[in-house]
Amino acid sequence: MTVAPDLDAPDFAIGIVGAGAMGRGIAQVAAAGGFDIRITDAAPDAAEASVSFASQMLRRAADKGRMMPEEAEAAITRMTVVPDIAGLAGCAVVIEAIVEDLDVKRQMFADLEDVVSASCILATNTSSLSVTAIASACENPERVTGFHFFNPVPLMRVVEVIAGQRTQADACEALSAIAERFGHKPVRAKDTPGFLVNHAGRAYATEALAILGDGIAEPVDVDRIMRDAAGFRMGPFELFDLTGLDVSHPVMESIFEQFYADPRYRPSPETRRRLSAGLLGRKSGAGFYRYTDDKPETPPEPPAPDARPERVWVSGAEADGRARVLDRLATLNVGIELEDGETPSKAALCLTTPLGADATTSAVRQGLNPARTVAIDTVVGLDKRVTLMANPLTTRATREGACGLFAATGAKVTLIADSPGFVAQRILAAIVNLGCAIAQAGIAVPDDIDDAVRLGLGYPQGPLDLGDSLGAGRVLTVLENLRDATGDPRYRPSPWLRRRVQLGLSLKSPDAIA
Ligand code: NAI
Repeated sequence: MTVAPDLDAPDFAIGIVGAGAMGRGIAQVAAAGGFDIRITDAAPDAAEASVSFASQMLRRAADKGRMMPEEAEAAITRMTVVPDIAGLAGCAVVIEAIVEDLDVKRQMFADLEDVVSASCILATNTSSLSVTAIASACENPERVTGFHFFNPVPLMRVVEVIAGQRTQADACEALSAIAERFGHKPVRAKDTPGFLVNHAGRAYATEALAILGDGIAEPVDVDRIMRDAAGFRMGPFELFDLTGLDVSHPVMESIFEQFYADPRYRPSPETRRRLSAGLLGRKSGAGFYRYTDDKPETPPEPPAPDARPERVWVSGAEADGRARVLDRLATLNVGIELEDGETPSKAALCLTTPLGADATTSAVRQGLNPARTVAIDTVVGLDKRVTLMANPLTTRATREGACGLFAATGAKVTLIADSPGFVAQRILAAIVNLGCAIAQAGIAVPDDIDDAVRLGLGYPQGPLDLGDSLGAGRVLTVLENLRDATGDPRYRPSPWLRRRVQLGLSLKSPDAIA
């Protein structure tokens, strides 16, 4: 059986079952995209309410000049409520957006199959269930596809098109073409836990929790570093508070279990404990932050010490890092001790720029006096915020001198506990490594991985582009040193990453060059 509907056929119609938050959003973008919509819901008046909401949104879009008023009115006339799924009989595609329950969805798909034509594509908007498991309730599982939108649908312009184990490629192609008419970017992925976006998003969340669990930095410090130095719109702990731990903790546990306890996805006892304490986030008034009138209470930045070392020696062990530090210090009136291999003078502050190693290891390996040594993270920009790490022997005067020095460059300074990989380089390396693991597993192609993460998670770059801009070799070094320092297979570098570093290729290059 071929599933290749003619999207321009005059009788082409899309059915939607489940008219809640997702169903009404899908109805809105589908009607705006020129499709006739039939929508139904089990709850009385729910479908009418959703069409009236979608109509309001379309008129608002016209008021704001985002579409012509006559286009909005035409889209509104294309949405029709039908009393039950029997009204979806003539549809070429039916999108299911009912409750997230495998048994209920399986029953729905079996019922739909009795109603629709043999060529109708059945799509599920499930966010966490297996498309294959839903499809197995159907006589023709080849027509069943995942079509995973994000909330709110009209603003989140990406949709995952998920092939179940037996889904026919035609069905995925047809849904991708439909998504483009909705104004959405389709990204194709295999039916695997978390699909693409929720899978790739694991690293940001769980690595931040691991940093907290290791006692390296407070949530507010991690958030400030990831916003100011790494360019993320929201820090990981702000994001936890926004989503709510009642949602995010079970997702972390479920993905970890579905990957049979792969340490890369290991959640943290921290969120389990916080969940038990009712510290859900914004919705409960307290999470990683406390909220007053929905505004988080954040401690003020620590004041910059009024101290400055007279001389600074910058390690040349990592040439890129040293160049970045020297560039940053160029405008300051401070004596720099430059030459490669030169022993630092007695009074100098020694700065090291480790990749994946802690301040202690970098001082000891380079034969530096730990009392005068501080490490700086140079994997991210140094203009807005600088992350420094002291070792247990670093004197207070040295610490304060280093903080004062970088504060004088106009940056905010965060001093964290000694640890391999600082905060930003550790989290970024985990994000890149996970993107590489997804590419390696063939879950999606590199461009789709990057588009899904940028559009679905709002990261400044997709993981593979990010790895290329940080320098894939540096990312590999961070991971190898993290793995050696911790002994944790969580940090094992993906072969996709290692191979491309060895060959000097972009992380986006495919496995076989034609
Ligand atoms: P919702 O609770 O807002 O709406 C679900 C609607 O389905 C309700 O109106 C309910 O009356 C109706 N319904 C339930 N069982 C039904 C049945 N047997 N027959 C007909 N109608 C039925 O839920 P929401 O948020 O719209 O989610 C729908 C689906 O989309 C779920 O599978 C969910 O996991 C998925 N999803 C949700 C996202 C979100 O952020 N809300 C994001 C992406 C996917």
